[in-house]
Amino acid sequence: MSLYKVSAVWGNFVNMSFLLNRSIQENGELKIESKIEEIVEPLREKIRDLEKSFTQKYPPVKFLSEKDRKRILITGGAGFVGSHLTDKLMMDGHEVTVVDNFFTGRKRNVEHWIGHENFELINHDVVEPLYIEVDQIYHLASPASPPNYMYNPIKTLKTNTIGTLNMLGLAKRVGARLLLASTSEVYGDPEVHPQSEDYWGHVNPIGPRACYDEGKRVAETMCYAYMKQEGVEVRVARIFNTFGPRMHMNDGRVVSNFILQALQGEPLTVYGSGSQTRAFQYVSDLVNGLVALMNSNVSSPVNLGNPEEHTILEFAQLIKNLVGSGSEIQFLSEAQDDPQKRKPDIKKAKLMLGWEPVVPLEEGLNKAIHYFRKELEYQANNQYIPKPKPARVKKGRTRHN
Ligand SMILES: NC(=O)c1ccc[n+]([C@@H]2O[C@H](COP(=O)([O-])OP(=O)(O)OC[C@H]3O[C@@H](n4cnc5c(N)ncnc54)[C@H](O)[C@@H]3O)[C@@H](O)[C@H]2O)c1
Repeated sequence: MSLYKVSAVWGNFVNMSFLLNRSIQENGELKIESKIEEIVEPLREKIRDLEKSFTQKYPPVKFLSEKDRKRILITGGAGFVGSHLTDKLMMDGHEVTVVDNFFTGRKRNVEHWIGHENFELINHDVVEPLYIEVDQIYHLASPASPPNYMYNPIKTLKTNTIGTLNMLGLAKRVGARLLLASTSEVYGDPEVHPQSEDYWGHVNPIGPRACYDEGKRVAETMCYAYMKQEGVEVRVARIFNTFGPRMHMNDGRVVSNFILQALQGEPLTVYGSGSQTRAFQYVSDLVNGLVALMNSNVSSPVNLGNPEEHTILEFAQLIKNLVGSGSEIQFLSEAQDDPQKRKPDIKKAKLMLGWEPVVPLEEGLNKAIHYFRKELEYQANNQYIPKPKPARVKKGRTRHN
């Protein structure tokens, strides 16, 4: 064999062994790669799921362009009404800052927004000044139910007076529009029925409820002083009784009392014959009214409430049936000073805002019952189940609210 042939065979051999080596190596790499792929793919899947769950963590939020998106402050935004308002404004695509001192509000009410880029929660007492840049202020901070506002009347007064001055000062400084959550209680024990906005009210300035009633009355006065003297844009909502999920367990009002009594199999306590009437609006109706008022050009006070009256006995029977409770209805002696009627006149809201309540009573009650049932379950582990407080006390006597 010539030297040339030997070197050719050797060359072939080297080539083949190189190719063989490469193919073994490639095969090995392929195997390793497919092994890695087997391990990595489920991880990728998990990351995709996590990303999905992260983006779906929040309720759906509309996209608003820079020009339409507002920076909105809600004082008392972790409370019953404030948290529903937060939900609406967040879902509408605005940037919402909630300021609350958690006196009656709870982080739980807004926890589903924590971490969202449009949401901010600040633990702050409105009695102290606040420096923040906003376009609109919904000023709701104030305890609202009698046991809560009577707990510390001086603080209730400070919140409604100094707190409102601070918020009006902020509105003036940043040129924001302020909506005050006032109340039907500015009408006191009304001598006219239903109450329209031009009724001046009948309030006892030194009674146990004066801290709230007079606090809100002077808060309204402050709004109009800032409007006239400083040109601040103000809106005043006179809110009537409202109910729904996230209202306080110990609110002390007839709807929550009856629901809790029915759910716990206790007698539903009716004071007197039960023929007194009350009117309640569902919270989503109120929230729509507040937003419509804020964005309207109506600067004078507007009643927001549901004028549909029901007797206390009707409420008791309806709630008992909806809960499916075997509770009895217990009649207790009639309470003095228990108003026979309370009903808003909402002609102005209808005419000027095109607003009226739309949620039927039964539908709203079912949602509230569902919420209270869940709350009782949630609290069962904490051994503390608040009992409904007796109807609110006025001049030393119990009455329905
Ligand atoms: N719920 C009703 O039926 C009703 C009726 C009339 C008027 N309103 C008014 O609507 C507003 C909201 O009422 P709600 O039913 O949601 O009551 P709520 O007690 O659930 O909410 C009030 C919120 O304000 C906060 N707050 C109280 N004092 C504060 C302070 N000094 N600084 C910061 N935060 C403070 C509380 O912690 C709470 O989160 C109140 O101004 C109330 O007067 C409510």
